[in-house]
Amino acid sequence: MFRRGATKRCESPRLYKFRDPCPGAALPAQTRGCGDNASGYHSRMFSYRHAYHAGNHADVLKHTVLIAILKHLCAKETEVLAVDTHAGAGLYRLDSAAAQTSGESSEGLLALVARLVQRQRAPAPALRDYLDVLASFNPDDVYKVYPGSPFVMQHLMRRNDKIKLFEWHPSDARALAGHVDQLRVGRQVAVLREDGFVGLRKFLPPPARRGLVLMDPSYEIKTDYARVSECIQDCLKRFSTGTYAVWYPIIPRMEAHDLPRRLKTLSLQSQKPWLHATLTIKSGQQASAGAALGSDGKPKRPGLAASGMFVINPPYTLNEQLKAALPDMVDLMGQDKHATHSLEVGGTH
Ligand SMILES: C[S@@+](CC[C@H](N)C(=O)[O-])C[C@H]1O[C@@H](n2cnc3c(N)ncnc32)[C@H](O)[C@@H]1O
Repeated sequence: MFRRGATKRCESPRLYKFRDPCPGAALPAQTRGCGDNASGYHSRMFSYRHAYHAGNHADVLKHTVLIAILKHLCAKETEVLAVDTHAGAGLYRLDSAAAQTSGESSEGLLALVARLVQRQRAPAPALRDYLDVLASFNPDDVYKVYPGSPFVMQHLMRRNDKIKLFEWHPSDARALAGHVDQLRVGRQVAVLREDGFVGLRKFLPPPARRGLVLMDPSYEIKTDYARVSECIQDCLKRFSTGTYAVWYPIIPRMEAHDLPRRLKTLSLQSQKPWLHATLTIKSGQQASAGAALGSDGKPKRPGLAASGMFVINPPYTLNEQLKAALPDMVDLMGQDKHATHSLEVGGTH
């Protein structure tokens, strides 16, 4: 049976001071991966703020996979390098104006927890690990804080491991640096206000040849899709045994459909094993006339319905873990009959 109070607690500081990356944020929610007609790289990039999306179904998928990979990498004594090329602000409040405006966590983390309690059952082990991490940031059994990928990494990694966080947005980079400062972990974590696709190169290969790169762009500009595959191609030359985890949105856009295909081709060309997981929680069709209304009285936009994770050189345990966790995610976060998942692997270990 799932008991919320039974989850693990951590030694990390619990009372974080929050740097609000979206001050005065009563803006319309930013729709990840749906930007078009780029009028300039920076103006498009700067329109995305993860504070609107923290704890949504895509974060549940991405962070469950991230946690499974890191737990595997940290099981051996050897020092590990983790690079987050698109880090965001690091910590988010689920009761902030930005999170409340979008309400996305109610179809993600909050739906997952509510249904688990309702159904009185235990989640699959990988989801349990995800919820354990979440619980350690929310000791009062109320989900107010959402740890982004930088804090998930720092929570699971050891003092001798290194974490490099790239964030290019000035406000989010400032918020991230402020959040990381509170950890007082010195040189273990570095925040770099640089283009992650470029800056990443200087850290590969890591000295101990053990590492993970998380690539999680906002895809506000369609060139991000090509930049991901070019960057992965370059990374595989520099550090062919590294684990690479790429998140992408499943949206009706050619570049989005092509990305997993390109990553598969790159893995095959480098003779590396790969894993491809997708999660759909609802129909991606525009809301119909009878759809629920938003606070502005207009039919609610359906928002992102599906996303995928492509992992090159996945831990050999990841496939089995996701075989159990993905159907659970569909069951616990599915919004309609279109909810589904897929899991595919290739190459050999
Ligand atoms: C989806 S969010 C990251 C979320 C984070 N990985 C997590 O899981 O908590 C993407 C972030 O990338 C930043 N960004 C966009 N382009 C970038 C680039 N070229 N280099 C570094 N950061 C970038 C955006 O400002 C945004 O904060």
